[in-house]
Amino acid sequence: MEKKKLIIAVDGHSSCGKSTFAKAIAARMGYTYIDSGAMYRAVTLACIEKGVVCGQTLDEEALPGLLENISITFRPSEGGPVSETYLNGVNVEKRIRQLEVASSVSLVSTSAMVRRKMVALQQEMGKDKGIVMDGRDIGTVVFPDADIKIFLTASAGIRAERRYRELKEKGEDVDFDQVKKNILDRDKIDTTRRESPLRKAPDAIVLDNSHMTPEEQMVWFEELLKKI
Ligand code: DC
Repeated sequence: MEKKKLIIAVDGHSSCGKSTFAKAIAARMGYTYIDSGAMYRAVTLACIEKGVVCGQTLDEEALPGLLENISITFRPSEGGPVSETYLNGVNVEKRIRQLEVASSVSLVSTSAMVRRKMVALQQEMGKDKGIVMDGRDIGTVVFPDADIKIFLTASAGIRAERRYRELKEKGEDVDFDQVKKNILDRDKIDTTRRESPLRKAPDAIVLDNSHMTPEEQMVWFEELLKKI
């Protein structure tokens, strides 16, 4: 008999390894992985290209037209299992990770109109189940009936250390205190915004991975699976 396919939601603070963990879970289960943050980043890029967002100003009146004509899809990367983000048929995986997008994505993702559109797309992607999606509102808004809800967290200091190391490895000249401040600022924006703030769903299981390796997290997940 074929095993019942599940919807697995992974929410949590920024820079706590959500996507690494969610990807590993998807690989373990043979499921599709969807990075909902990439979708908000892709809309932000579309807004930048069309002049709908500029710095910290968003032209709300131009949003409906833009959202109506937007297509965001994921396709496997050439020769690899990792999926990449496409905006209107164009691969934007690299561009959405750049500073220009990062500095406006928080603003664009506070828009109720943008969130409604993204949530509808995400729900459509999950209609056949067999999906692992990570983000901020997956267990609360997108899939309130998800079969497994994980709320991932780690101390701000540890998250800052990980992010600092990552940026250093990329050759960026960064200051630790600045990285930590950025993490604390993002926590504040994510948890206090009016539309779909980051919060733990009542039925989500919290995993604090401050002192865990990726392998230990998967051991934790295997234990969780046994109880489902
Ligand atoms: O996970 P990330 O850093 O790539 O997310 C980019 C931005 O999108 C971040 O500012 C939070 C926002 N986001 C959101 O509001 N809701 C989601 N489900 C996922 C991301």
